[in-house]
This record gives sequence, structure tokens and C-alpha cells, in this order.
Amino acid sequence: MERDTTAPPGAAVGAVDGGPLVDGGPDAGAVKACCAAVYQSDWARLLLGDSFHPGGLGLTERLGQALELGAGRRVLDVAAGKGASAIHLAQRFGCEVVGVDYGGDAIREATSAAERAGVAHLVHFEQGDAERLAQPDAAFDAVICECAFCTFPDKAAAAREFARVLRPGGRVGLSDITRNGPLPPALDGLLAWVACVADARPVAEYVRYLEVAGLMVERVEPHDEALSALLRDVRAKLMAAELLVKLRKIALPAVDFDQARTMARAAADAVGAEVLGYALITAASAPAVRPSEA
Ligand SMILES: C[S@@+](CC[C@H](N)C(=O)[O-])C[C@H]1O[C@@H](n2cnc3c(N)ncnc32)[C@H](O)[C@@H]1O
Repeated sequence: MERDTTAPPGAAVGAVDGGPLVDGGPDAGAVKACCAAVYQSDWARLLLGDSFHPGGLGLTERLGQALELGAGRRVLDVAAGKGASAIHLAQRFGCEVVGVDYGGDAIREATSAAERAGVAHLVHFEQGDAERLAQPDAAFDAVICECAFCTFPDKAAAAREFARVLRPGGRVGLSDITRNGPLPPALDGLLAWVACVADARPVAEYVRYLEVAGLMVERVEPHDEALSALLRDVRAKLMAAELLVKLRKIALPAVDFDQARTMARAAADAVGAEVLGYALITAASAPAVRPSEA
């Protein structure tokens, strides 16, 4: 699929459309490329700002506290987007952060943002795939992954990678969309997948992926209100953008406002019906076994 960095939700994003999207299946590469293209677009920035997850940097900070981050800790931010969380964690906790994202433009923007924020000595970004990380074994004290695990076609592989790059006794922190039950057709296609909804799972399934990868889950917190607030915000921004386009104050070519509005309303209704939610999960890798204990 051709990469289109301007494609917004509601516009046709490349040629991939629906079809069976199974774990590690033939469409997996297209899902990742499409997800990266959408979140690199100006449209994503318009609707979401720089932080692409419910709860924003406030919830990132809570994750940092739960993972007991501090100076000297090494953190891997998987699917780091434009780097807002990695930069915030370095500023707030003094930790070193490596951010990985599938999107090359996102990596370039994140690198510039870290320089502008004065934390380039602590934060570094690399292009990569969550399901096949280039980082060495046991290299990090903590791994975070915010609002992205739900989009990975092969979630089991990503969970194994989290466990592999964690040092013994290290911790992983996920925050992600949760789904309990079927979604309406408006939330069923590729765009709904990259909007973190179509392949979202019940919180128990996320827990299971981490456990199967050898991690011990320590904390599960519901944060459904953060998703409701983000959707309220997105719907308000959509209305404002549509008005500005009609008044010819801004140009947003190829945006299907009807589809974007329908998806946002369907998602808000699904949160109201407790089908969609948001959760924070932390898990630890087993501590090292000392020779005398072996
Ligand atoms: C909803 S955004 C979240 C970004 C960031 N974590 C945040 O909260 O601001 C999802 C991100 O996942 C990235 N992504 C999707 N699939 C990926 C993969 N297989 N490996 C690495 N990044 C991926 C996308 O490029 C996008 O930046």
C-alpha cells in the first residue's frame, strides 16, 4: 500500500479495505502501514493534538508512577507516535527513553520535538516494528505501550517482545482500549482497526497475552472516563473542522466528514453501553534467580 501521510480517518486510506485481518495474516503489513500513516497525518494532530491516547499525558504520568520510573531507569516506549509520552517521562522522571514507532515521519518529528524540549540527551527515537523489536534482550527497566497494542495484528508476538527486552524484575505498562462484545458495523473496518477500536479486546485478554509471554500482572485500572472525554473532544473538533471547511477557512481535501462523525458517534455510544472502555495494566518480569537459589 502506498503511504499517505495526509490521509485522515474518514478518507480512503490506501487500497486496503476490510477483509479478514487475522493474527500475523497477509494484511498485517498493511494494517501497520495504514496505522502509521493515519497517526502521522495533520488530521490526527488536528483531532488529537500530539498525545494520541485517552487520558493524555496525565495518564502517561500515572503509568510512569506505577512503573516506579526515575533517573537512571531505561524505558522503551513501543509505538511512541510523535514522542509526546517519551519526552514527558524524561522531563518528569529523569529517565532515559527509547521510542520506537512504525512510522518514519513520526520518528523524525519525535526526534525534533525532543531537541526542542531540551531532552535529546535522554530521549532517542528509532523506526521499528513492535512485533520484531531490534533492541537487545534484557535492555530496559520498563516498557510502555499506550493505545497501540490493540492495533498490532500479532499481539502475542508483541507481548513476547516486551518480555524479551525487559530486564529480570522489570515492568511493562500498557494502556489501551478495551472491548466487551460486538461493535456496530460503523466500527468494523480497517479505519476502525487503526482507530484502536475494531481489534480491541477485553481486558482479560490483554492480561492473558502478558501472562503467556511470561509476565506477572500486578495492576489493572479502568479509565473509561478518559475515553469518553477524548471522544467528546474529537466530536467537538470534527464539528469545528467541518464548519471551517464549509466557510473555506481551512482546506481538508478527501475528508469524509459523514463517516468520521458516524464513527465517533458510534464509538461514544459503545462507551456509554460499556462495550468500549480504556484500561491501564502493569506487569512484571520474574526477578533474576541468584545462583544460591537455583
Ligand atoms: C494511537 S497511536 C499511539 C501513539 C503513542 N503511543 C501515543 O499514545 O501518543 C498508535 C501508534 O502505533 C504505531 N504503530 C502501529 N503499529 C505498529 C507496530 N507494529 N510497531 C510500531 N508502531 C506501531 C502507529 O504508527 C502510531 O504511532
